[in-house]
Parts: sequence; structure tokens; C-alpha cells
Amino acid sequence: MNAAVDQDINAIPIDKIDVSRPERFENDTWQPWFARLRKETPVHYLADSVNGPFWSVTSHKLIKEVDTTNTVFSSEKGGIALPDPIAIEGQIQGRSFITMDEPEHARVRGAVSPTVAPTNLAELEPLIRERAADILDNLPIGETFNWVQEVSVELTARMLATLFDFPYEDRRKLIHWSDITTAVPEVTGDDSIDMDERYSELMECAGAFYQLWMSKVGQPPAFDLISMLQNNPETAKMNEDPELFLGNLLLLIVGGNDTTRNSISGGVIGLNKYPDEYQKLRDNPDLIPNMVAEIVRWQTPVIHMRRTALEDYELGGQRIKAGDKVVMWYLSGNRDETVFEDPDRLIIDRPNARAHVAFGFGVHRCMGNRLAEMQLRILWEEIMQRFHMVEVVGDVERLPNNFIRGIKDVPVRLHPH
Ligand code: HEM
Repeated sequence: MNAAVDQDINAIPIDKIDVSRPERFENDTWQPWFARLRKETPVHYLADSVNGPFWSVTSHKLIKEVDTTNTVFSSEKGGIALPDPIAIEGQIQGRSFITMDEPEHARVRGAVSPTVAPTNLAELEPLIRERAADILDNLPIGETFNWVQEVSVELTARMLATLFDFPYEDRRKLIHWSDITTAVPEVTGDDSIDMDERYSELMECAGAFYQLWMSKVGQPPAFDLISMLQNNPETAKMNEDPELFLGNLLLLIVGGNDTTRNSISGGVIGLNKYPDEYQKLRDNPDLIPNMVAEIVRWQTPVIHMRRTALEDYELGGQRIKAGDKVVMWYLSGNRDETVFEDPDRLIIDRPNARAHVAFGFGVHRCMGNRLAEMQLRILWEEIMQRFHMVEVVGDVERLPNNFIRGIKDVPVRLHPH
């Protein structure tokens, strides 16, 4: 860490530190800020920010406490991201089970989750492998290209289209809809986003899925997500409630998009940053499953989740009041030095890599975690068969976003075996 930066951080009074500023994620300079909070006050109150007052929870242990105390810390009351949800008159607000509390949450999740159950994933695995292999076989050799666009985005688009049985040629639309869902000014710091245009594009998304839904009515049951939703009594009429329909579909698109995409990009960055780890992988490809968990820890694609306290609660010696906004910084929990040795380093055979909190914890724990891990495992198995190295040859560009740890550009060159 740069000593001058370190000094600056220590000169700022602790109660003025704002870890949510999007530029810290764009510049990848967030580490010392969270390290200071973890050390001095792992439950930290900021009285004033662009998103109003909020608590930051930064230690691994206390994040788990908030995530598992879901009768006190609500996902429904104020949503799951730092900015409060904004209701615009006349506009449909997507409503999905990630922003529901019990018992409604469990009911809807229970209906949707069989789509990503192990038996269903086993059905999808050969197709995902074939589609991943096809991408890798068509990459340019001897040229510099952006790994994010050519591999991370494309593979994720193919996976989502497979999952939804969405028209394959339109798969990039899924990525676009997901991107605009998470890109709101309060998260990115970018005021130039045209919210009316964003809304009309989201309505286009709703329309496309409505059409897809209708095209499957009366068809024999299949393994795709829409068919499974139609064949479950709990969700069979989801299309009649526009808020639930758009919300739950966007949840699945967003949940499966940025997260997997950025884990794919993050893995390449991490292995290039730590060449010894890349060598370990070449020497022993059996490390891939553990490496996948470690990449997800190291990357932490979802930076935070927010809850709202329904009653007063004492957390880590601080008094949280009913109505307070509480932010779990997963990115910080995964760099907690009391749990992970040398936490800022990617260590592909780290014994406790799976102890990460990148998928959350408790009732809302990521529903797609096995799908994400399967996709990353397949991709790395296929990469290792073809390439000695995917070499990063230029500067990595990241997004100003405090919710999704977004990577925009990773210039690479391939070195085949
Ligand atoms: C590396 C990839 C992924 C990461 C890091 C990730 C992370 C997360 C996190 C942090 C949560 C919230 C947990 C909480 O509040 O306790 C979550 C929830 C969720 N994720 Fe993922 N996710 C990933 C991939 C996926 C994929 C591929 C899908 C695809 C279908 C998906 C679908 C969901 C859904 C539906 C929820 C809501 C669960 C609920 O509220 O019960 N995720 N994910």
C-alpha cells in the first residue's frame, strides 16, 4: 500500500469516512479504507452521505450476524442496495424475492430455485461446456483483445440465453437489460443516465419476456426457467402481476450476469497479478474447484447488500435503531485478516476459500451459486486445455459502482500450448 495514501486515510476522522464513494471502486483503492474500519470500528456510522446516514458492517463475523438475523434486518423495508428505492409515479417497479422478507420470500424462492437445482444443472452442463469451448476456439491468437467483451460477457450471455431458452441471436439484449438495471446514478455517481430511456428499455425487456412466456404456454414441460415457472402452481400466473414478473426475471438476469462476468475477468487479473499461483494451476489443474471459490472470494462481485433494521439491535457494541440503514460490505468481509491469512492475495489452494461471504449468508444466500461455480469451473477447465497463459498486457479498467464490482476492460494476449 502507498504510504502517502495510508497517511491521508489516517488523517481523516473515523466518523467522516465514506467507503461507499464509487470512485474508490473505479480506482481500486478501497482496501485501506475498509481495513481501517475493520480495525477501529467494524460497525461504523456515517451520519451524512449522498445516500443519507448509514451503518457499515465490515467484519466477516458481524456480516454473518446481520445476514442471519433476518427477523431484525429486513430486505423488504428499504431494499437491498444503499440508495433507497425510488418510486416514480406511473412506472412499474420490479418486485422480486430478493427484496421480500419471510414468509413470502421462502414461498417464491422455493418455487424458482428448482431451476438451478443440481439435477437441472447437470442437464445444462454439456451445453454450457460446448458454448464455452466454441468461444475459446474462436479467439484471435497473436492479437490484443478485451477479455471482458470477448469472453466474460459473451459466455455469460450464452449461459443466460440457455437458462431462459431466450432467442439465442438476441442474447446480448439480456446483458444490456442487466447493465441498465444496476446502473442508477446513486450507485455509479453518474448523473447523466437518462432515467426515462432506462425505463422504456426495461419495459422492452418486460415485453420480450412476456412474449417468450406466452410462446411457451401449453407446451410440454422443459428444463428452461420460464417453463419451470409456468409449471409450478406458485408462479404459474406470475405474468399477471407486472411488478413480480419484471422483478423476478430481472433478478435472475442481473443475478447471473454481472456477477459471473466479473468473476471470469477477475480470475484472469488475479492469476496475472500472482504468477506463482498461475504456475500452481498449470502444475495441478485439479485445483480448479478450489480456485473457483478463491476467485469468487478475491473478486467479490457483489460489493454490498443493504438491510433496514425493524427494531433496535446491538451489533458489535453499537446500538442500531429501528429504521436505520445497515450495509454489509461483503468485499471487506472477504478481506478480513482474522479469517483469511494474507487476505489481499489470491491463493488458489487456500484451505478456507469456501468460507467467503461473497454469496451472502442466511435465507437470501445466492440461489445461483452452484450455477456460477459450475460455469467458472468449466471455463477454466477449457482454458487450461488450450492456453499456457492468458496474459494481461495493458491497464485494467473498472467501473465506478459501489454495488457491483465491475470490470470493463482487460486487454489480453493468448499463449497457446
Ligand atoms: C459468482 C457469482 C455470483 C455471486 C458472487 C452472487 C452473489 C449473490 C449475493 C451476495 C446475493 C445476496 C445474498 C444475501 O443477501 O444474503 C445473491 C442472491 C441471489 N443470486 Fe447470486 N451471485 C452469483 C451468481 C448468481 C447466478 C449465476 C444466479 C442465477 C440464476 C444468481 C441468482 C441469485 C438470486 C436469484 C438471488 C436472490 C436469492 C434470495 O433472495 O433468496 N446469482 N447472489
